[in-house]
Amino acid sequence: MTTSPILVTGGTGTLGRHVVPLLREAGRDVRVLSRHGHAAGDGVRYVVGDLLEDEGVEAAVAGVETVLHLAGGAKGDDRATANLVRAARQAGVRHLVYISVIGADRLPLGYFRAKRDAELAVADSGIPWTTLRAAQFHDLALKTAAAMAKLPVVPSPGGLRWQPVDSRDVAARLVELALDRPAGLVPDLAGPTVYGLGELARGYLRSRGKRRPLLPVRLPGKVGRAYRAGDNLTLKGAETGHRTWEAFLAERSGAPGA
Ligand SMILES: NC(=O)c1ccc[n+]([C@@H]2O[C@H](COP(=O)([O-])OP(=O)(O)OC[C@H]3O[C@@H](n4cnc5c(N)ncnc54)[C@H](OP(=O)(O)O)[C@@H]3O)[C@@H](O)[C@H]2O)c1
Repeated sequence: MTTSPILVTGGTGTLGRHVVPLLREAGRDVRVLSRHGHAAGDGVRYVVGDLLEDEGVEAAVAGVETVLHLAGGAKGDDRATANLVRAARQAGVRHLVYISVIGADRLPLGYFRAKRDAELAVADSGIPWTTLRAAQFHDLALKTAAAMAKLPVVPSPGGLRWQPVDSRDVAARLVELALDRPAGLVPDLAGPTVYGLGELARGYLRSRGKRRPLLPVRLPGKVGRAYRAGDNLTLKGAETGHRTWEAFLAERSGAPGA
């Protein structure tokens, strides 16, 4: 039984905050890379570093066999991942687990392209790896719906669908994968139901007792075409999380900012 800590990049984020306690429940010590200092506690230590600036990364991976790479942002996941991969290879890491997004190989948008380049950096790293592509999290669907609902008329882009998944279901799957053998690209993980974006907004409005008119709009250009073609979805062959959008909305009812 190995005793080295598991490094979680992004361990302070929406997804990472669910992953860290599951690793602790599995009896593993955890090291978290964060741009900010945090007090250690309950088997979790924090290393200050920045993947984009390539600072503190060597110290973060030192003595680690398994890395769960969950850090990410709107931009630069390709560069951040390349920096992590370089340090992890030098440190002799034996399993690199990466969270990507469904459609990384298809959607003509900067975020998805960066995720694809990051996937390739992981697959070409020479380190045994596992990559899971997940659908948009309920947390993001909630933020999106809440922002849309601030408008007097809610835009409803025709043909744009999401299959949001609960970040707790993604966390559980990632921990299972991290504690198992490297498996390469595993089946995608999506939520139990496909919704039009307008339906997501309507569900949100209903759960908050609000009413707004929906205005059908058409997303233009190649991005619109890709979404209408469902390039952001995996309708066949995906695994599905069991927590529903409706249950998530009910849980978050009344939460600040929700
Ligand atoms: N949200 C979604 O719907 C969705 C769907 C599919 C895949 N994903 C992927 O899942 C991952 C986690 O998403 P999330 O929603 O949990 O993100 P999040 O809540 O925005 O958290 C981002 C995390 O990344 C860390 N981070 C950001 N920039 C960093 C840098 N330069 N150096 C080191 N750490 C950095 C942050 O740590 P500190 O602030 O502590 O430094 C934080 O822990 C991302 O890779 C994302 O692309 C997300």
